[in-house]
This record gives sequence, C-alpha cells and structure tokens, in this order.
Amino acid sequence: MTMKKKHKNHGNTFHKISMLEQNTADVMALGGQEMIQKQHDLGKLTARERLDALFDAGSFNEVQLFVKHRSHLFGLEGKTIHADGVITGYGKVGGRIVFVAAQDFTSSGGSLGEMHAKKIWKVMDMAFEARKPFIALNDSGGARIQEGVPALDGYGGIFYRNTRASGYIPQITAIMGPTAGGAVYSPALTDWVFMVQNTSYMYITGPDVIKSIIGEEISHEDLGGPLIHSSKNGVCHFSTSNDQDCIKKIQALLSYLPDSCHSPVPILDLGDDPDRIAPELDEIIPNEPSKSYDMKEIIKCIADGGQYFEPHAAWAHNIIVCFIRVMGQTVGVIANNPKYYAGVLDVHASDKAARFIRFCDAFNIPLLTLADVPGYMPGSRQEQLGIISHGAKLLHAYAEATVPKITVVIRKDYGGAYIAMCSKQLGADYVMAWPSAEIAVLGSEAACNIVYRKEIMTAADPQAKRIELAKAYEDHFSNPYFSAGLGIIDEIILPRDTRRKIISLLETLQNKSHAAIAKKHNNIPL
Ligand code: HXC
Repeated sequence: MTMKKKHKNHGNTFHKISMLEQNTADVMALGGQEMIQKQHDLGKLTARERLDALFDAGSFNEVQLFVKHRSHLFGLEGKTIHADGVITGYGKVGGRIVFVAAQDFTSSGGSLGEMHAKKIWKVMDMAFEARKPFIALNDSGGARIQEGVPALDGYGGIFYRNTRASGYIPQITAIMGPTAGGAVYSPALTDWVFMVQNTSYMYITGPDVIKSIIGEEISHEDLGGPLIHSSKNGVCHFSTSNDQDCIKKIQALLSYLPDSCHSPVPILDLGDDPDRIAPELDEIIPNEPSKSYDMKEIIKCIADGGQYFEPHAAWAHNIIVCFIRVMGQTVGVIANNPKYYAGVLDVHASDKAARFIRFCDAFNIPLLTLADVPGYMPGSRQEQLGIISHGAKLLHAYAEATVPKITVVIRKDYGGAYIAMCSKQLGADYVMAWPSAEIAVLGSEAACNIVYRKEIMTAADPQAKRIELAKAYEDHFSNPYFSAGLGIIDEIILPRDTRRKIISLLETLQNKSHAAIAKKHNNIPL
C-alpha cells in the first residue's frame, strides 16, 4: 500500500517536472523558427544567443521566465508573447556577477509593454540592491502600440531606475536593433552605449514621421545609425562590427570597471615591469612646435602591456579619453590629441572629457591627464554652440572629482585650457611637466601682437620686431621653469620616466581621502 502511494507520488512529481520542462522549452523557443531565421538573415543573433555569448558558460540564471502580458486590447487577448519579449536574469561575466535584460525581437518585435517593463524593473532593482553592473541589450520596436499608456509608464520606471542607479552601479546599453522614440532615453541615461553597425539605429522620430512633418527624406542609417551617433554627436561610445564583436567589447569594458561605487576597482596584473622606462619618449616631441606627434604612443608607453581601451574613438578626435591599467589598476586617461586641431578644446571635446571624468570619479578610478593644448577653439561657431557652458562642464568635472588626479604637461598648456586640463588649482594632486612643456597665457606671437602692438607696428621691420619680442616672451614663459619656480608644477621629469613616476604617485595617493561638504549635490552646468 505504502509502496503504491509512493509510486503514485513519484508519477505525479515526474509529470510536474516534465510539465515545467515542456513549459520552459516553449518559452525558450522565442518567437518561433521563422522569426529566428529572419533575425539571422539580418545578421543578428537572437537574444538567447547573445546571452550565451555574454555569460560564462552555464552561469546564466533566468528571472521571471513565465511572465505574460495581461492586455486585452487590439488583438492582444489570447496572443502569446514568450517571456513577454524580454529575457531577464543574471550570470557571470569573467567570473563576476552582472544583471541583464535582453529584448527578443522575434517575439512581437521586442516591443515593450507593461509586464515586459516590469521584468526589466525587477532585474534593475536586483542589480541595485546587489550592487552589480546592469546591462541592457536593446532590440525592440519600442512602446507596444496596442498596450498604450502602460507601455509609456514602463519606460518611465526604467528611466527612474537608470537615474537612481547612476554613479552607483555601472550601466551599459547595447543597441542591437531598432530603438525609436523615447526608448532612446534609457540608453542615454546609462554610462556606456554600444551600437552594432548595419543592424542598429536609434532616433527620436523615424524617417516616415520626419518625411511627413518636415518633408526631409532620410534613411534609418543616415538618421540614427552607429556612424552618426559615434562620430557626430557622441551618443554612442562604441561602434561595433557585429553582435559578437559588440559582446566582446562589453566584456572588455567590464574588466576595467568595479561592480559598484562601493566595490574595489578590479586589478588585472599583465606582468608589466613597474620600473620599465621608455627611452623613446625622450624623442617623441618634434623640434618644430607646430608639428604634431602621436599622443597614443605616450599612452601606450605608460600603460601596462601598451594596452588601452578607448570610448568615443571616432568623436571629438582632438581629445582622447581611455582606460588603461597601471600595475593592474584601472586608470582613466584624458589627453589632448595634437593630431587633430592641435588638440584644442571645443564644445564636443569638453563634453567628452567631462562625462568621462565624472564616470571615473563616481567609480573611484584615478585620473591621469596628459596636456598639450593650445587653448579653447576661437570663433563664432563655437561661441554660438555655447563653448562657455560646455567648457565650464570640464572645469566643474575636474574640480569636483575627488579621486587621485595626476597631470603631466607634455608640451603646450595655454590660457584657459591650461586651467581646464586639470591644473593644480582645479585640484590636481600632483602636476609634472616634461622639459618640452610651455605654460603661458597665450602663444608667444599672439601674446606679443597684443602686448607690443604699438612697438611692432611702428618698427622699421615689424616682422623682425615681432620675432624678437616673441623670442623674449618665449624664453621667459614657454618652458616649465617659471611655473616650477612658483610651485605650480611639482616636478619636471624626464619623459622616459613618466610611467615610473605615475606608478609611484598612484601608490602614494591610493588612500586619498576627501571630506564631503554638507550639501545635496553640485549643479554642474549641463
Ligand atoms: C507592437 C510591434 C512594435 C510595437 C514592432 N512590432 N514594433 N508590436 N508595438 N512598437 C511587431 C510587429 O507588429 C511584428 O509583429 C513584429 O513586431 C516584427 O515587426 P516588423 O514590422 O515585421 O519588423 P521589421 O519589418 O523588421 O520592422 C521593424 C520596425 C517596425 C522598423 C521596428 O516594426 C516599426 O516601425 N515598428 C514601430 C516602431 C515605432 O514607431 N514604435 C513606437 C515608437 S514610440 P508580428 O506579430 O507581425 O510578428 C515609443 C515611445 C516610447 O517607443 C516613449 C518612451 C518615453
């Protein structure tokens, strides 16, 4: 009797287990073979394939697999949308826990309805509580049109959570398909935006609406493809060649970042020698002041293994921002790039650097500034674009940053841009200069044209007089010794020693503390 009952129970349990397996398999099948084929034909992976590529094998744990929409509107009644079009969960990337929401375009175009959004809220909340990074893999037709306002409400809840988590946990978005309308704002609220070439686009209004309202004809790609967002406006930090490449780059980025603002920045020892000197740096600065050189060569000589990881590589070329490792520790580098407009600061360069500085500061990543800057870009165009408030963002970002701040003046460091590139008075902990450094209010010729205008104009040979006066100005200001004499530069170093000096400073400054001022928050000039 007992035996029989036990057997019966086993049968019941077995049935329930197979039911779970069957139900799970149904949902896991996404939007069906035909839609999956369509996705593959476009050169896109499915959401599940993306997660397989992202997470360490076998580590992904799906959350709320069985959530369904509950709308009865416009044909949705009785319509099955597996997992409600989004796969949510957590798993390990390089051995570290990360939370994810991956939209499934094969199920009703990955459109976002009420329950779809609530699944995303759930993992965002878990990531927040657990203090772990959050990644969104977007591939969606946007707000689920049939559901109406609850879908918009769903986006609102995501934006709120993005903002609440800002500066607390790293947030990454990959655009791996369409992203239209207000749906673009969650990506823009996160720290890092990746896009996939040829298959992704993001815009506030699509080509059809634009044509009907303003008559402009434009393709998806030209309106909001990765080329536009990575080279024209900086909305996209990383333009990637395909889904696999995108995921590899997300993994690489994560390796530089801490889990949260309360977690240690990961150390990855590449085995580079802390005493390594770089004699090639002694010869990198050309004799002619107007000639450029490759700032990235300097960065490579400083970085462990010569490796750097660069967001915004195609935007605002006149400034470089990138992550490097120094003795295994992540460091954020901000460097003028003399190859583009002589490394001048303009509206975009200021925005690019300021955003990067604020990210690094929020997540306790020390800042290394390499200055070679002739000034702010002059001209009516820059004034109209608001160089005043954009430039102020950079000043604000540096001044409020409390992480270790090390500055190396490589060559020119002129005027307001000298101040902006993490000068001593903006709170640099230590400012070094190469012997080639020139620190002045203006370049010598421009300075003399103003100060000695009368003398030059009345001279028998104005050009010869200009050169003579400029030489005197240059001899006085255009070197690091005047500034070093005032303690504005802490040390003049040999270029070849730059890495060693930075290592010793990072070690020295690692316990840097700061006392927060009792106020709610700064009001950065946005
Ligand atoms: C409901 C949607 C949908 C949406 C796509 N689908 N977008 N369902 N709401 N927003 C469904 C389609 O009906 C179709 O369902 C399936 O997804 C695949 O879509 P297709 O059109 O066949 O795919 P494709 O030809 O590749 O075109 C992709 C697309 C197009 C360009 C994204 O679907 C499209 O234009 N969608 C609407 C985009 C849009 O205007 N969204 C609203 C933006 S406003 P079946 O059942 O046939 O497979 C917005 C406001 C957010 O999002 C505000 C936040 C503050």
